[in-house]
Amino acid sequence: RQICLHMSEYFKLNGRMGRTSSYSTIEKINDIAVNQNTKSFTSFDQVLIRRREEARRSIIVQVKDEKSHTDLLTYCLNFGDVNNTYYYTVDNDESRKKFILIEFANISGSEKAIFNGQHSELENILPVTSSFLWFRTDKKKSKLRTDIAPLNIDSNDLPSSYELDQIFSNSNSFSDDMILLYERTKLGEIGTRLRFITALQLEASLKGLFHSCQVLPFGSSINSFGKKNCDLDLIFDFNEKKNIDSSRLMFHSKTLAGTSKIHNQRHLETIADIIQYFLPGCCNTRRIFKARVPIIKFKHELSGLECDVSSTNLSGVYMSELLYTFAAYDWRVCPLVFTVRYWAKEINLTNPAPGKWITNFMLTLLVLFHLQYEKIIPTLQTLSKSKREKDKKIFIDNDYKMIDCGFLTDLNLLKDPETEPNNDTLLELLFKFFEFYSTFDFRLNAISLNSGTLIPKPVYDPLYIVNPLEKGLNVSKNVSQEECNKMRIQFRNAAWNIECSINSINGTSKKWGLSHLIQSHILNKDGFSKVQNMKGSSSTFVVKHLFTNVEETDSVKKTENV
Ligand code: CTP
Ligand code: MG
Repeated sequence: RQICLHMSEYFKLNGRMGRTSSYSTIEKINDIAVNQNTKSFTSFDQVLIRRREEARRSIIVQVKDEKSHTDLLTYCLNFGDVNNTYYYTVDNDESRKKFILIEFANISGSEKAIFNGQHSELENILPVTSSFLWFRTDKKKSKLRTDIAPLNIDSNDLPSSYELDQIFSNSNSFSDDMILLYERTKLGEIGTRLRFITALQLEASLKGLFHSCQVLPFGSSINSFGKKNCDLDLIFDFNEKKNIDSSRLMFHSKTLAGTSKIHNQRHLETIADIIQYFLPGCCNTRRIFKARVPIIKFKHELSGLECDVSSTNLSGVYMSELLYTFAAYDWRVCPLVFTVRYWAKEINLTNPAPGKWITNFMLTLLVLFHLQYEKIIPTLQTLSKSKREKDKKIFIDNDYKMIDCGFLTDLNLLKDPETEPNNDTLLELLFKFFEFYSTFDFRLNAISLNSGTLIPKPVYDPLYIVNPLEKGLNVSKNVSQEECNKMRIQFRNAAWNIECSINSINGTSKKWGLSHLIQSHILNKDGFSKVQNMKGSSSTFVVKHLFTNVEETDSVKKTENV
């Protein structure tokens, strides 16, 4: 099977290159792979520090359209040199709002621009100051500068399924589809900057009370697995300094009575009110306090982001750092995770609403675990063994226990990653992933990214993924038996589909690739037509697993009934 996959990729690549002249796509894709493999490692902390500092030097200005660029820049250069300008749009119900993000060279530039800002003359305006502004018409008609650098216009919109199909139609192999998907849908420069500026807006509003507080983005906005329209997960951290022996001046402060959960909830209530009533652009605030981690949800109309704010502990940020570190270890991790997440969304395995289904985060952990199992990326234990003093990551868990979940965060210093050389193509990795979980015994085994091995399930949850940082917790606790079964069936279908598509490489029409994988799912939704289709296939895998699948699903149902 391995050889078949190699050969199919080879023939698609060479066969098609002979017929068409899409050399440039291939060269570009190869460049991406080489660049990503040779690129030196930048640690998560370095990225966080650089992005936060960049956000402090930036302002966002609503404009009439992109032609306002010269006028706006001529005006802003009065406050200081400008490094970059980016144009983006946000579609609201009836209108399309247009914005230019200006990154000054120094923080004094953005500070002066904000200091010089004014509030509108309307009477019912709350005079809040922030880095979100709008550019009013120049009545004096000042002279425009002619030495203005061009505006960066980088689409912040996710391509539609139709656009992606068009993009894939020019690719030469399944692996290329995977790289194209990643390159076209991953969170871009403007999306990342908007996320850090939005976090800073909230942080600035709370700084007066909590001088050293931080509002940090986490989750897919920064863990390398974010796509263009992903939500913005934010954590409010008091960042209090403790045990500084040298200081004799102590702050008077309020004492907290009652449990920490109640306080956390009350504080979040207050933060929700600040967001709703004071912060420009923020609306539709909702309080979700019944969840294990209480959150506030809101929409930011000026950055176009859906945001979730929580304030319990920093474990979400540490988790993002862990995922970021795994993603940086091998260039194939991101295209592979993007493909699995995209496939799962298109076949409705994941769902944007919270519930009993598998989430993008869980799918990511499944992919990472499989790569550990294949010895392509290191385990968390390996990273923890090499941790330095500065890698300590302390947080208080749900039982108020202090946990150090530290791990080595600078991959340049990882001496013995305990991985093995592996040259699998992306298609081979995808196929192995689907195949691995097709035959995985979810009834008995849990997945541990700490050891990179299967462990017996401590309790009967249908899907058990050990939380790598809080080992007593199951990340996938909410997943129902029905959804777990559905997922396993879809893994099998996908493995069959990839294997069957190898047989079609000599056909004239394109019967392989990501679009084909998804379309086949839609065509094969009905189990009967699936059997009919599979009957024509010579694959023993298809037939064998189709029937074991039906039997196992039945037996799981029987166990449940008992
Ligand atoms: N998280 C966690 N434990 C969980 C669920 C979430 O630590 N049981 C953390 C992870 O760091 C995760 C982040 O919270 O990345 C945000 O969760 P979520 O928004 O569900 O996932 P994302 O990774 O952000 O993916 P998506 O693009 O779907 O938002
Ligand atoms: Mg998220």
